[in-house]
Amino acid sequence: MATALVVLAAGMGTRMRSDRPKVLHEVAGAPLIAHALRAGLALAPERVVVVAGPDMEAVAAAAHEEWPEAGIAIQTERLGTAHAVAQAAPFLQGFAGDVVVLYGDTPFIRPETLSAMADARARAEVVVLGFEPADPARYGRLVTEGEDLLRIVEWKGATPEEREIRLCNSGVMAAPAELLLPLLDQVQPAPSSGEYYLTDVVALARAGGARASVVLGTEAEMMGVNSRADLAAAEAAFQARARADLLETGVTLTAPDTVMLSHDTVIGRDALVEPYVVFGPGVTVETGATIRAFSHLEGAHVSRGAVVGPYARLRPGAELAEDARVGNFVEVKNATLAEGVKVNHLSYVGDAAIGAGTNVGAGTITCNYDGVSKHRTEIGARAFIGSDTMLVAPVRVGEGAMTGSGSVITEDVPDGALALGRARQVTKPGFAARLMDILRARSGKGA
Ligand code: UD1
Ligand code: CA
Repeated sequence: MATALVVLAAGMGTRMRSDRPKVLHEVAGAPLIAHALRAGLALAPERVVVVAGPDMEAVAAAAHEEWPEAGIAIQTERLGTAHAVAQAAPFLQGFAGDVVVLYGDTPFIRPETLSAMADARARAEVVVLGFEPADPARYGRLVTEGEDLLRIVEWKGATPEEREIRLCNSGVMAAPAELLLPLLDQVQPAPSSGEYYLTDVVALARAGGARASVVLGTEAEMMGVNSRADLAAAEAAFQARARADLLETGVTLTAPDTVMLSHDTVIGRDALVEPYVVFGPGVTVETGATIRAFSHLEGAHVSRGAVVGPYARLRPGAELAEDARVGNFVEVKNATLAEGVKVNHLSYVGDAAIGAGTNVGAGTITCNYDGVSKHRTEIGARAFIGSDTMLVAPVRVGEGAMTGSGSVITEDVPDGALALGRARQVTKPGFAARLMDILRARSGKGA
């Protein structure tokens, strides 16, 4: 059955107390809307429509990043969930399959739950995703009779008996477009709020002779984000699951609770991640690599057997080949370190390529920025960069070349050459004591 995904995201989310639309707040480095879309994309939808509020270009952009063909419907006035879905209608013209409605602020719906809903469509035209939370709070309640869902009552309009019902509405709904879209026009404003409720569609569908039923999901996947506290709880839930998944696939996390992962972190089997490591977006760590404590990685690739940290920072474009070593207080950005390269202490390597087996001494800096533009540093294989070398880019150090400690290298160094770019040392025998005498005499402090 062809599917069209409609993701509701027009709410500003007042309780977030934010200048940003709610669905742009991030969990594990990706906006909520991206998580919601990804969940829905598991259904391989033929069409995707995001319903956004006015002035939400950034929401459209985030949606397009996930799904470039997504239609963006603008709901100019926030008149309720049925009204919101109705705004998607122009994008559903000529579409004959099922519409699946998701909320942009509910990031964790599982693909298997959505496919269970698709299966349930064989038994009923309208399928609603329900759950039984520990605290049903003010969720809409699902009124059932045997296998049938009779209607959904919003908490505000529910009778005391209906409020006793523990089966709640998640908001996720699936129904054929040809049934759902005309029903939206029949929805009347709710007496309690004046809003047009999508939930009213169930009773309307039944009145027209259609069936409705419920698929049960877990409370964890229905977690919605309405406040900063919810956002933190969603982050914690994501992290707990992502860590458990890594452990399951054979990654060692010495102290799992201290490791922060991104939505797209990939770590290979038998890799070791020590305590307090933060993975920003775009990191791949291959099998057998070690990320030592207190390191921060983002947009980086760490190959087999490489060792990073402790206290290392890999920024976007850091590419470590097999067995490379990046040690403490080293920052690497937009740079490739070939096999076996060592940058073990206190260095900055940016906009650079370093050949296999090269050793970069402590305190080395690629001076890549002249205040206007960035320039590249290239170092050949098996070179030796002396401690505290300043490599003033653009500059090239050849294969097997050496630089003396403390050198400022402004000119290319040919293969095999030794370059010294530092002041010559002057040594004055016995001068230390004499200098002290002079200084003391000047200060009037005597011996
Ligand atoms: C809704 C359901 C309720 C369910 C609950 C689950 C309705 C009427 N009620 O209530 O049964 O238990 O979700 O969380 O559907 N939105 C728009 N435009 C609008 C209104 C809402 O885009 O005009 C979006 C919001 O941004 C949000 C989603 O729809 O992502 C749900 O809206 P919200 O107002 O939070 O619905 P609830 O009152 O929580
Ligand atoms: Ca809500």
